[in-house]
Amino acid sequence: MCGIVGYIGRRNAAPVVVEGLKRLEYRGYDSFGVAIADNGIEVVKKQGRISDLGKSAISLSGPVGIGHTRWATHGVPNDINAHPHTDCEENIAVVHNGIIENYTELKRMLESEGHTFKSDTDTEVIPHLIEKYYAGNLLDAVFKTADVLKGSYAFLAVCGDERRIVAAKKSSPLVIGMGDGEMFASSDMTPVIEYTQKMIFLEDGDFADISDSDICIYNSGEKVVRMPEIVEWDFDSAKKGGFEHFMQKEIFEQPDVFYNSFAKKIDEDVISALKKAVLITVVACGTSYHAGIIFRYLMEKYCKIPVRVEIASEFSNFTPCRDSVMIAVTQSGETADTLSALKSSKSENCTTFAITNVLGSSVTRAADHVLYTLAGPEISVAATKSFTAQVAVLLKIVSCLSEYDIEEELSGIHAVLEEALMFDAEPAAELCKNSESMFFVGRGVFYPVSLEGALKMKEITYIHAEGYAAGELKHGPFSLLCENTPVIALCTKDESYPVMMSNIKEIKARGAPVIAIGTGDDIDLMEICDLYIPLPDSSKISEIITASVILQVLAYKTAVLLGRDVDKPRNLAKSVTVI
Ligand code: F6R
Repeated sequence: MCGIVGYIGRRNAAPVVVEGLKRLEYRGYDSFGVAIADNGIEVVKKQGRISDLGKSAISLSGPVGIGHTRWATHGVPNDINAHPHTDCEENIAVVHNGIIENYTELKRMLESEGHTFKSDTDTEVIPHLIEKYYAGNLLDAVFKTADVLKGSYAFLAVCGDERRIVAAKKSSPLVIGMGDGEMFASSDMTPVIEYTQKMIFLEDGDFADISDSDICIYNSGEKVVRMPEIVEWDFDSAKKGGFEHFMQKEIFEQPDVFYNSFAKKIDEDVISALKKAVLITVVACGTSYHAGIIFRYLMEKYCKIPVRVEIASEFSNFTPCRDSVMIAVTQSGETADTLSALKSSKSENCTTFAITNVLGSSVTRAADHVLYTLAGPEISVAATKSFTAQVAVLLKIVSCLSEYDIEEELSGIHAVLEEALMFDAEPAAELCKNSESMFFVGRGVFYPVSLEGALKMKEITYIHAEGYAAGELKHGPFSLLCENTPVIALCTKDESYPVMMSNIKEIKARGAPVIAIGTGDDIDLMEICDLYIPLPDSSKISEIITASVILQVLAYKTAVLLGRDVDKPRNLAKSVTVI
């Protein structure tokens, strides 16, 4: 939800900021802007994508720069609403990620004092407040500004008369990269990793005063020490590496990602805290929510511990179960609804766990215990490898808590996933690409797999797609079935197989084409469906992963055939930090 970047140091700032914004574009891409501070402020900002129009900002020159790529919240996407925003004198510039909740009253107050506003954004109050309080020291003015702001923010401010960047963080992420004679600030580490692995993750309430070779951090009026961490993600993993799209690359990384995430040991204290649970509540959104439902099926089956899985944005409407265990699943670690659900459970005395992909993200600070997925940076907006990694960590939990030998079942997973990735999605994608609407159906643990398959399909192809429990289709959606509504049926050889076969026949009888995904050479299934996709020979649990990966490839291929912007589907952002 918006990305911000700052640079100060020995290089020309504009190209560093522009390249950084390109890496953050997944957080929002309706407009962008860059400000350079060097004896005054120069700003270039435009509606559109930095990857298309960024050249216009590279010509700016100076050693201190800030930039922004936007996912609009207040004010439509246009040149004026694009960040950076400036004060009346245009000598202070600010980029901001988050929402200023009391901006209307602040704007009214500032206008009554003679400030003139140019945009419709909430952010613009920040440079005007800094201007109001400025008396020759940007840091002091930012302290005073933050005192009156309500809401969430990570912002960077520069002043045309000073060689420094001042950063403030509350509820939105902000990372400082420490280089040699240069410093970076960013919403996440992907723009920074090319230059340095030494990072400081700011805490809520932190202010950072950043110069070329030093950083001073303050919190609650005191100077504080934040130890830098060495981040092991490498720069290459944030590049496409010969693939056409990040999504394609990330899909193909999944054999390693699953293997590594499952292989990682879980600490004994985490296992013993989970073993004591009489009820586990999982909260998550979107794809992460689907990983949570998969966990429910497996945990209840193999460990007999009841699991409740809630959409994080609905959690506040339910009563949290006091003294129980909560697991928040969030690849970004920043999803506002998930964070708020976790915090409310903590206040009910629950033991909280976070499963996330991002070191230093907000959820890692809020939870009692953190389990990291080892997916590496995921740039494509649609989650693929981060989902597989979540399922791997959740499966590891099940494996640690159950008598059943899940590790043995997953022993061949790397090779099996590599085989699954060889499948030719073109015929199925051709069948799907012109459909009005699609259904994805499965039973048992393949029900959440079908939910995830439908989400992937709709978000990157824009074809309406619904995931359904196969038994539910006849309770309403049957009226939608016709020759232009393909149904993707997950029908592996498990205990649900006979009834899935009947469901498929019922669907066929209503005239809808069926693409079936089944186990090996299933002749009976091949006979009743229109197109058959065999899963490689493997264990039952492996089939959950291979089927998920095959549905990702199908969605990807369909989107490519339709010429969609695969990595940046319209209206979406990767990290949703607003409620
Ligand atoms: C879909 C997708 C989203 C996210 C959701 C939660 O491909 O990526 O549905 O899963 O926004 O995000 P995290 O996991 O970061 O909390």
